[in-house]
Amino acid sequence: MLIAQISDTHLAGWGRRTFGVAPMGENLARCIRHINRLDPQPDLVLVTGDLTNNARPEEAERAASLLDALRVPFYVIPGNHDDRAVLRAAFAAEHCPAEDETFIHYTIEGYPLRLIAVDTTIPGAPGGEVCEKRAAWLEAALEEAPRSPAVLFMHHPPLRMGLIETDLDGFLGASRLESIVRAHPNVIRILAGHIHLASLARWGGTVVSTAPSIGMRLYVDLTLKRSAYILDVPAYQLHYWTPQEHLVTHTVRVQEPEILHPFSAA
Ligand SMILES: [Fe+2]
Ligand SMILES: [Fe+2]
Repeated sequence: MLIAQISDTHLAGWGRRTFGVAPMGENLARCIRHINRLDPQPDLVLVTGDLTNNARPEEAERAASLLDALRVPFYVIPGNHDDRAVLRAAFAAEHCPAEDETFIHYTIEGYPLRLIAVDTTIPGAPGGEVCEKRAAWLEAALEEAPRSPAVLFMHHPPLRMGLIETDLDGFLGASRLESIVRAHPNVIRILAGHIHLASLARWGGTVVSTAPSIGMRLYVDLTLKRSAYILDVPAYQLHYWTPQEHLVTHTVRVQEPEILHPFSAA
C-alpha cells in the first residue's frame, strides 16, 4: 500500500499568494502533478490540515478545486487555520466522510492499513486537543479491529517537539490519547502536520511523524522565541507499507524541472 501525504497548504484566495509571498496554489498544483505521474500510483492521498490560511470559504474552494486534479482518492482533515463548517461545505462527502456533527473524524477501510482520521482542532485556538468525546470515539474505532495495523492521521503532533507550535500552542488531552495508543500496539504510526517540518519521534509506543508544508518551511528555533517560515521547494511524503510490513516514509521535494542523472552515467 502506498499513501501520499500533503500537509499545510495554507491557501489564500484565488490568484493570491499566502501572506503576499508564498505561492501555495502553484506549489500545490506542482505537488499534484508530481503525484499524478508516480508509478505506482498511491492508493490514496491524505491532506493533514491547514488547507486554508484564514478559514475562508474561497480558500477552501480553491483547495478543493486544485485537489480534484488528483487521479486517486483523497481525504481531508482540519487544522487550526481551517474552519470545520467551511471544509465540510467545500469538500464532497467522499473526501470528508465524517458522520459526526461536530468533529471531522472517520475511518478509511478496505486497505491493508486501517486509516483513522482524528480531529485535533479547537475552534479559534492554535493548539491541539483530544477531548473525552473524541477519545471515546477513537477507542471505539480502534476496538472494531484491534489486530489490524492502523495509522492515525491528525493535524497536531501530540507531543512537545521543541518548537513554539507544539510546546507553547500545546495539546490538551495528550496523555488521554497516549494511553489509548499505548493500549493498541497495532497503531503503527501517527501521521501529523502543523509544524511544517519532516520530523519524527517515538511516542506512546508508536512513531509520530510530521509532513512538511508544501513550501512554507518552519524556521527551527529551539529557544522558543521566534515563529517564522522560510519559502522552500514544495514537498510531500510517501508512506510505503512494504511487503515486509514496514511503513517506510520518504519525503519528496518537488523541484521543477526534475532532471534525473543516472548513477551509471560515464
Ligand atoms: Fe500550518
Ligand atoms: Fe497548524
